[in-house]
Amino acid sequence: MKKRAGKARALALALGLGTFGCSEQNRPVQTGSSSPTWNDDVAPIIYRHCLPCHLPEAAAPFPLTTRSDAARRGRQIVEVTASGFMPPWLPDEDGPRIRGERRMTAEETQTLAVWVANGAPVGVGPEPTPPEVQPWPLGTPDETLEVSGSVIIPAEGDGTLHTLVLPIDFGEPRHLIASQFLPSTPRALHGVGWLFDTSGHGLRADPGFPGPGYRDMGGAGMNTIGSLGGWVPGRSAIPLLEDYSFLVEGKGAILVQLHLNGTGKPERESSKLGLYYSEEPRKKNVIDFIMGSLLMDIDPNESNYVLTDEVTLPVDTELLGLYPKARYVCTHLHVSAIGPKGNTTLLLRISDYNYDWVEPYWYAQPQDLLAGTRIKLEYVYDNSSNNLRNPHHPPRRISLGRDAEDEMAFLMLYLATEDPSDLATLEELHRDGFQRRIRALKNWRAEH
Ligand code: HEC
Repeated sequence: MKKRAGKARALALALGLGTFGCSEQNRPVQTGSSSPTWNDDVAPIIYRHCLPCHLPEAAAPFPLTTRSDAARRGRQIVEVTASGFMPPWLPDEDGPRIRGERRMTAEETQTLAVWVANGAPVGVGPEPTPPEVQPWPLGTPDETLEVSGSVIIPAEGDGTLHTLVLPIDFGEPRHLIASQFLPSTPRALHGVGWLFDTSGHGLRADPGFPGPGYRDMGGAGMNTIGSLGGWVPGRSAIPLLEDYSFLVEGKGAILVQLHLNGTGKPERESSKLGLYYSEEPRKKNVIDFIMGSLLMDIDPNESNYVLTDEVTLPVDTELLGLYPKARYVCTHLHVSAIGPKGNTTLLLRISDYNYDWVEPYWYAQPQDLLAGTRIKLEYVYDNSSNNLRNPHHPPRRISLGRDAEDEMAFLMLYLATEDPSDLATLEELHRDGFQRRIRALKNWRAEH
């Protein structure tokens, strides 16, 4: 098996995630229900929660499509599902419900445990056929962007960043309702995010790198739409809810930031990005409002470095979702809203943050935020060697930077409003906030 799976397993064990005592392993477990079988009980659970990652040639290192695939790894499956290590899902349960949540019920994990303990029976009749995974589950995109040629992903290296530049001219305003990333080598990628850059920066960035795009994030200059979405292995596009769209117009490029994951042999990645538009304007426009801190200077062995940021919303808005971005030294984070009357609502908590699996989190129900609401974030970093994800051994000083070994503390808020003047107010606040952060960073760098 490739190196990373080993690392992931070491992590699961080190985090004290469920391991089963020997005496438990072979004893048949009795539950209220009859003995679960692959055909009737287990295959539906595995198909629902483990595909599309555990298909041949998909992101996970082995398929789980047949009874014998699952039976062969029975004990391991019981361990990783009981501990919550699989399926991979970062948000804690105490925030608002999130669309596309990857979480199993206690009953489902128990069914797997009973099935394995009972010798993984197949049941009656032929085995079910696993569902086919469509490359474009939302149908053929209205527009598909792709790079010419392919990115060579080196055999080794975990977390290297590579940016693809997809030039686009939206011309007339378009109402973007979904975008889907379609990789050719899902196993060789972790999270991928894309943003609309109208500054021309991405187009000008050094094309000297062989093949499409360039290494690192290249410091995009972005307009207020900014981040349009993100992908992790196994994720298909989550379209905006009915009344909402991103209003995109003008010329620029969509920059797709790939987070590479060496598989042990060099791979060629040819990515596609599918865009879906609504013909009619939608009632409310969505913007990406970025919060976070550019100032960070984490000493080696500092195990509890806390970064906070806060913004007060000047107008009533709706929050559709959040996309936190920090790298490997970040261990946990939370975001909350403090209403004008002082009532606090948790918006997102991740107690075991992992850069490999972070993605945009879209709420099942938009969160109404009144003018005067303060949004607060708190990100915590552990730059000691106790943090097994720390890329530096021994730990080194870490600051803001473009490489996977550096850090960051961003939060994209997907805010929506119906009122064009409220939208303009939010855009201005966003711009000013960003300029203020960049000035602070320049001053800080001049002093250090
Ligand atoms: C979103 C994609 C995804 C889903 C869904 C998923 N897995 Fe995985 N799984 C992976 C990847 C990728 C790995 C390789 C290790 C890693 O990168 O964390 C993995 C590794 C594993 C491992 C090996 C762990 C180890 O210790 O080496 C097991 C066992 C496993 N998955 C079982 C499951 C089961 C059972 C389910 C469903 C209940 C599931 N996975 C759902 C992506 C997924």
